[in-house]
Amino acid sequence: MICKPDAVERGLVGEIIGRLERRGLRLVRAELRQVDKETAGSHYGEHLGKPFYDSLIAHITRGPVLLMVVEGPEGTWQVVRTMMGATNPAAAAPGTVRGDLALSMTENLIHGSDSAESARREIGLFFP
Ligand code: CMP
Repeated sequence: MICKPDAVERGLVGEIIGRLERRGLRLVRAELRQVDKETAGSHYGEHLGKPFYDSLIAHITRGPVLLMVVEGPEGTWQVVRTMMGATNPAAAAPGTVRGDLALSMTENLIHGSDSAESARREIGLFFP
């Protein structure tokens, strides 16, 4: 999981981690780090060429993010995605991080892996 620069800037990292912990998930690794453009490009490679790609890269690299590895039962990636809410905060349900705390598609506070395979790939990218 990544708490994006807007989450760090708005002081919402504690709120986001608190939600995960209260749910019963465990933070096993975390690092505040400024992501460079090359790493951001690898991370978001599937979005290359899309109209929002440049703003996505600009956003994730504009300030420190909190990179996190969260552990829990099998399928934890799915639990995290559900807690995050829809990518577009306008459609995110109340009770989710985005539904409660975000309004912008680019500044949507968090990123969560969309499969167990993506989680492995992303953990390998950010914690080689
Ligand atoms: P994230 O979960 O980090 O994965 C890709 C990101 O691209 C997504 O969150 C949004 O921040 C962003 N994104 C996806 N679709 C759009 C869109 N249509 N317009 C702007 N940003 C988008």
